[in-house]
Amino acid sequence: MRPIKWNEKFELGFKKIDDQHKKLVGILNEVIEARNENKQAEIISKTLDELVKYTQYHFSDEEKFMEEHNYPRIDEHKLLHKELINEVEKITRDFNADNIEKVDEVFDLLIHWVLNHILEKDMDYKNFIRNN
Ligand SMILES: [Fe+2]
Repeated sequence: MRPIKWNEKFELGFKKIDDQHKKLVGILNEVIEARNENKQAEIISKTLDELVKYTQYHFSDEEKFMEEHNYPRIDEHKLLHKELINEVEKITRDFNADNIEKVDEVFDLLIHWVLNHILEKDMDYKNFIRNN
């Protein structure tokens, strides 16, 4: 799996959020690296745990930010966050229980979700806040 290269197009233009997204991509890259290097399951599991924790932390900050700016689709966005956290937690649990058959495919999906969230879903509140 190829690591993710940070790209300007991921940037929303709000420093705090962008910094957190960069950190999130950094943790995803640690997951990818651990996987690529065939690290012990224990190490991969630790990076997945870190991903869950940081994602939770970031989402709660992001929700506060949307609240402060009266973003009208906040409930919808919160739901997306909840679903994403549930998925990442599930993957972590399955991985820990040695319950994933195609680890690479599942990890690919995980990376796709997170990037897609930043690139598409977060852009919506960015556009709202920028234009209001
Ligand atoms: Fe978000």
